[in-house]
Amino acid sequence: MKSPYRYHITTFGCQMNKADSERMAGILENMGFEYSEDPNHANLVLYNTCTIRDNAEQKVYSYLGRQAKRKHKQPDLTLVVAGCVAQQEGETLLRRVPELDLVMGPQHANRLRDLLEQVFDGNQVVATEAIQIAEDITKPRRDSSITAWVNVIYGCNERCTYCVVPSVRGKEQSRTPEAIRTEMEVLGQQGYQEITLLGQNIDAYGRDLPGVTESGRHKHTLTDLLYYVHDVPGIERIRFATSHPRYFTERLIRACNELPKVCEHFHIPFQSGDNEVLKAMSRGYTHQKYRRIIDKIREYMPDASISADAIVGFPGETEAQFENTLKLVEDIGFDQLNTAAYSPRPGTPAAHWNEQLSEEVKSDRLQRLNRLVAVKAAERSQRYLGRIEEVLVEDQNPKDTTQVMGRTRGNRLTFFTGDIQELKGQLVKVKITQTRAFSLTGNKE
Ligand code: SAH
Ligand code: SF4
Ligand code: F3S
Repeated sequence: MKSPYRYHITTFGCQMNKADSERMAGILENMGFEYSEDPNHANLVLYNTCTIRDNAEQKVYSYLGRQAKRKHKQPDLTLVVAGCVAQQEGETLLRRVPELDLVMGPQHANRLRDLLEQVFDGNQVVATEAIQIAEDITKPRRDSSITAWVNVIYGCNERCTYCVVPSVRGKEQSRTPEAIRTEMEVLGQQGYQEITLLGQNIDAYGRDLPGVTESGRHKHTLTDLLYYVHDVPGIERIRFATSHPRYFTERLIRACNELPKVCEHFHIPFQSGDNEVLKAMSRGYTHQKYRRIIDKIREYMPDASISADAIVGFPGETEAQFENTLKLVEDIGFDQLNTAAYSPRPGTPAAHWNEQLSEEVKSDRLQRLNRLVAVKAAERSQRYLGRIEEVLVEDQNPKDTTQVMGRTRGNRLTFFTGDIQELKGQLVKVKITQTRAFSLTGNKE
């Protein structure tokens, strides 16, 4: 008997890529493929790639090299590169790795079946042209049975001078509120408790949909979407990411405060605490505006958790400008901060500027920033000590199987003693007894 066809997917990069991988896995399972944890036992290997920084891109080439070699011994192996490196490199990837069968950009994720049919007909296929993203009719194979991602807007129309995302993800395309709500209703029926609405710049949601209100505002904003979906039965928590300080509104803050299912957690990247650097990045706000947004959030929700992204070592960044980033982090006290050393990316303006900083300076600044982030996060964690927090249990603690783990509404990872069979998917009141920079431990109440 012929053994079933097996597929393997490795995903790099952000939540959008993870969401795309889940949809592509769903398509493959619909086609009769079975999942293989080990790429070396799979007949089809798909790398869903990221090119946000050079090290993310390089990782893919080393993985691919190994599979390309395997293909010489096993010619029926199908090799696919999807995602942002695929979009960026296109045909060039085929020249670099001629063993590839399919190179497909992120806009083509939902077309995987069609593209593979062309491959199985004997073609080598490159799908990187800009298209209108079709609604996905297959069922994604989701990693979690408790929390799920729901795309609301694809692409990005900003032009931050360091960033490849607009060139690899294309123009903004919003899904309709009805399609989003329908997907959430199905998830609610399947027992999912928590939804994260996704967009690279989620505040742009709805700008490309028709309709304006009497006051001239777009009819379908992110705020309107939250009101429209917040009562989906079964869904207990709603999150959204990523917010852009340029477009973040008080109306949105009020909605989050009013709607009980929307969690008090805001992910609003600031990138730099220095106005000149922000200007060179084309971010469209000042550090004062950023601080006002956080003040406003804390006025409505004093306990809200705040996370962000920041870049150090942007071209021309002086020591004094870097210290303004440290100052912002010191003043605001983030619950979590994703930090990165600036990496020049192909096709972005900042990559061509003089005044690129040395790797030593960048890594020194990164370490100094990371030390401060850990100190501030530990301080922020302390406010939980002795408190009772609602934790949505997702899994067993892999390091201690007598414990389960989940997240608070503020998105802190929390561990407590308990049986996963009994608690998985439950919202549990947990009294916090220990705090660390990025996680908590407690006891079930
Ligand atoms: N849309 C989001 C984030 C997109 S990319 C936003 O507007 O903030 C995720 C993060 O990667 C960015 O927030 C930024 O901090 C980082 N990043 C993007 N391009 C980078 C580059 N060239 N070098 C280093 N970090 C980068
Ligand atoms: Fe990149 Fe800026 Fe768009 Fe974010 S908003 S994805 S940083 S271009
Ligand atoms: Fe990477 Fe593409 Fe996301 S470049 S960060 S996977 S949008």
